[in-house]
Amino acid sequence: MIVLAYSGGLDTSVAIEWMKQATGKEVIAVAVDVGQQGETPEILRERGLACGAKEVIVIDAKEEFAKEYCMPAIKANALYEKKYPLVSALSRPLIVKHLVAIAKQYGADTVAHGCTGKGNDQVRFEVSITSLAPELKCIAPVRDLAMTREKEIDFAIKNNLPIDVTHKNPYSIDQNVWGKAVETGYLEDLANAPKEDLYTYTKSPIAEGANVPDIATITFEKGEPVAIDGVKLSPLQIIEQMNERAGAKGIGRIDMVEDRLVGIKSREVYESPAGIALITAHDALENVTVERELARFKNQVDTRWTELAYDGQWNSQLKHSLDAFIEDTQRAVNGDITISMAGGLATVIARKSDTSLYDFNLATYDEGDSFDQSFAKGFIEIYGLSSKVATSRDQRAGLK
Ligand code: ARG
Repeated sequence: MIVLAYSGGLDTSVAIEWMKQATGKEVIAVAVDVGQQGETPEILRERGLACGAKEVIVIDAKEEFAKEYCMPAIKANALYEKKYPLVSALSRPLIVKHLVAIAKQYGADTVAHGCTGKGNDQVRFEVSITSLAPELKCIAPVRDLAMTREKEIDFAIKNNLPIDVTHKNPYSIDQNVWGKAVETGYLEDLANAPKEDLYTYTKSPIAEGANVPDIATITFEKGEPVAIDGVKLSPLQIIEQMNERAGAKGIGRIDMVEDRLVGIKSREVYESPAGIALITAHDALENVTVERELARFKNQVDTRWTELAYDGQWNSQLKHSLDAFIEDTQRAVNGDITISMAGGLATVIARKSDTSLYDFNLATYDEGDSFDQSFAKGFIEIYGLSSKVATSRDQRAGLK
């Protein structure tokens, strides 16, 4: 038996019958809803069954995705190559978790997905699968069973599969509650600007009203956002509200060329209004509450954590240990950050924290500060000593 990651689209719908004929095995189609805003569970069920699935299972995993995947990404300030908030990368391990559970429940020996052989997602699916259940086999019909678009359409018509084969979206889209990723024909030419019609989470930063600031105060507890403007909300509600509010101000549009794990540079356009707004706020609160040496080191850990998530190593030993480190750094990341959202930017304008390390009496340039400036001279003399000695040597020896 095969458990298939099912989206309801052409590829995975055709894949059901295709795999049945190629392997002689039954197929269970599993749609994990992480906020794709796709079709209703009823339609997915109907179509999957009509395409030959033995069973179709639809799981609402939005709250779980927000809590277990997006919240850790906020704590890690996760922006791959300093820009991409890991939208697709975060969803794959969660989808796999459910696929594997269902495979075990039904005694399936294979898990399948609809990825091509060129992207990161095939790696994320398969590495996540084998790291949870080493005994399971993986197949990707588009990649392994030579399922091309033309052949798919012929096959769908010949087998009477109830799918609209004429409809071809000009964009390749992946989306969830954390944002949207878009790749497409014309974007593959780096000289072409994205057209306005690919954006659905955000208004243009220059749209009417987008320059009128929306001020939001986000409360964090142990690095996790727990309330907006004093109202306690669930992780999913927080993300949904920030998507609305930051999206209305054009925040979170990202047009970048990124380094895929498989060695290809690729152009992708993203939208993640909540992702950018919440990471901006979280980062600002860490500036106030995390001690300097810890903050410097955490920066490196954040980068590595983000790379591991991007590279499909969500369940790896290293990621697991870095999670523990990051969790420990968040002990005192408590307080309120106020951001002003307008014209495509989330700007931090106020900070309040009971666990702040900011000491007004140390920092002030006014009279009566508690910092003894006379200590500074000796500190600098010793701090700069090794460099001073080395430069003198270079001058003496004619090395400089
Ligand atoms: N490049 C992104 C990643 O590797 C998104 C992949 C899916 N993108 C898409 N437009 N279908 O995480």
